Amino acid sequence: MARQPARDDPQDLVLVEHPASRRGPDGAALDPPEPLPGVALVTLNRPRALNALSFGLLLRLAEAVEALDADPGCRAIVLTGAGTRAFAAGADVAELAAQDAASLAAAPGFRGWDRVAAVATPTIAAVRGYALGGGAELAMACDMIVAGDDATFGQPEINLGIIPGAGGTQRLARAIGKARAMELVLTGRRVAAAEAERLGLVTRVVPAGEALAAALDLAAAVAAQPVEAVRAAVEAVRAAAEVPLAAGLDVERGLFRGLFGTPDQVEGMAAFLDRRPPRWRAPGPPAGAADGAS
Ligand code: HXC
Repeated sequence: MARQPARDDPQDLVLVEHPASRRGPDGAALDPPEPLPGVALVTLNRPRALNALSFGLLLRLAEAVEALDADPGCRAIVLTGAGTRAFAAGADVAELAAQDAASLAAAPGFRGWDRVAAVATPTIAAVRGYALGGGAELAMACDMIVAGDDATFGQPEINLGIIPGAGGTQRLARAIGKARAMELVLTGRRVAAAEAERLGLVTRVVPAGEALAAALDLAAAVAAQPVEAVRAAVEAVRAAAEVPLAAGLDVERGLFRGLFGTPDQVEGMAAFLDRRPPRWRAPGPPAGAADGAS
């Protein structure tokens, strides 16, 4: 029987937990729950379709991540897939098959990947199982990827008579180099977690069941850092993948200078000189550190 588009409840396509609870090595929330201040968990929730990214899901994902980005209490976002089999097995092929060039250009969900990549809050993908096609592109749109050792990455679009359309040719080439990206895009070959780590595609690989816990712990460590410096660092490192070196160095210099005089810079340096731990400001509205003004 031909594959049919799955019918989903739009409310449940994306789940948000903020603050997220710390997970144990089995991925389950601790009992009693231990909230991680400043950390949000966003779950792609179509496990029966391996979390395939329908336009409806992409729209809700973009809205959820943007709402968290606008919340001063959210300082790091972890993105994961429901279940153990997939982060996301790509765009929803049943839905994609019915499109033409004009309908794709008009589909608001099609911008979901860009909208996730554009948030100022640092993002971490926690990947178990398949991250294929648009799923791999979504993971790569995040700032970091924590992979379980059962993770599989790939750009299989060539097998469907198309090419990656949500950053896969660009972000993959920047992450692992042109020659390697070319092979994966032209053949659709899938790479397992260990190879993805060797290629520099992922931040780290952990035992499969620990991927979410490790991503949340990493997010908590980031959320505990001074917020303006974190946002400036995110903006500067992202620029490395987007602009030529001289322009990136200018971005860095502007952001660096812009942090001087912020309460956390004053506190951080005073604490070092006083030989005491710094007391960072409580989360609040992000100030203009990311303006690059200097
Ligand atoms: C829609 C999908 C899907 C997808 C899986 N499913 N991937 N539905 N779109 N991308 C559904 C199946 O139809 C099936 O539903 C259920 O999930 C389980 O999948 P199976 O194929 O039965 O599982 P398995 O045999 O274990 O194979 C797993 C798999 C395979 C290797 C991941 O499902 C697969 O190749 N999926 C497609 C991967 C792909 O081509 N991704 C790129 C898509 S294009 P039922 O109801 O039958 O149980 C893309 C373009 C992005 O991403 C750019 C857009 C801008």
